[in-house]
Amino acid sequence: MEMKLKNKITKCLFPAAGYGTRFLPVTKAIPKEMLPVLTKPLLQYGVEEAIKAGCGTMAIVTGRGKRAIEDHFDRSYELENQIDGTSKEILMQGIRDIVANYTFSYTRQVEMKGLGHAILTGQILIGDEPFAVILADDLCDNVHNDTVLTQMTKLYEKYPDKCIVAIEEIPEEDTNKYGVIAGTLLEENLYSVTNMLEKPEPQDAPSNLAIIGRYILTPEIFDVIKDTKPGKGGEIQITDALLTLAKQGKVLAYKFDGVRFDCGSIDGFVKATNYFYEKVSNE
Ligand code: UTP
Repeated sequence: MEMKLKNKITKCLFPAAGYGTRFLPVTKAIPKEMLPVLTKPLLQYGVEEAIKAGCGTMAIVTGRGKRAIEDHFDRSYELENQIDGTSKEILMQGIRDIVANYTFSYTRQVEMKGLGHAILTGQILIGDEPFAVILADDLCDNVHNDTVLTQMTKLYEKYPDKCIVAIEEIPEEDTNKYGVIAGTLLEENLYSVTNMLEKPEPQDAPSNLAIIGRYILTPEIFDVIKDTKPGKGGEIQITDALLTLAKQGKVLAYKFDGVRFDCGSIDGFVKATNYFYEKVSNE
């Protein structure tokens, strides 16, 4: 009997266990995902994007020293009591609505063995269904109506047996910072992936199409990750696991519409801050 695939994505996984060493010393006690762009932590931007895409459950993979994440997505009775009825109340409205209306579940990655391993750690929160993944340090903003994840969940409804990765054209000299794909064009902005490599040197890169931190994954990925050996940097790479599925014709790469900032790097973080400052100043 053929397995019937559920084609609505309702859960979003946020791998947030990494050490964020590029931001030391601030990341010694503050999770990278809690660094603010203006007044909102990076992870809240990701959660808002997941909500817009129709996700009701946020599954967060954390690690040691990340408790601020759980406190942020919770009530803060004393603070709320203090500001209720004052002009400051409005500043808490967005996060209060999120906490009141959506489910947050957590699990800890005990050893930081890579993004693939972090996703596998989240299996307990996801179960046997397709799901979205957002890396909150890749901060995306849509320039037209749909957010990046919404564009991808819509696409998934059309291709419900495929995994989808978001891609962006990058300068050729930067390929060694990303997973890079090769593929055949399926429709406008959409490739069927034939090869993918983690952080190839420019001379080895199959293209300049880099995977960024948005994925739609089918639950099949969990078993594949379990069979994936550590790759680049000794980490279990999601790119290596996806390559196994790509060889079976099961991975699509989508060139999204919108902007994206690599907030895992200082340069990208400063650019994001300036971008959002300009944006709110013009509102
Ligand atoms: P990065 O490699 O960008 O994050 O991983 P990092 O290791 O925290 O940062 P640096 O390089 O030391 O500055 C991409 C994403 O995968 C998560 C990170 O939290 C980040 O969101 N991740 C990575 C995990 O959750 N677990 C891991 O073992 C590795």
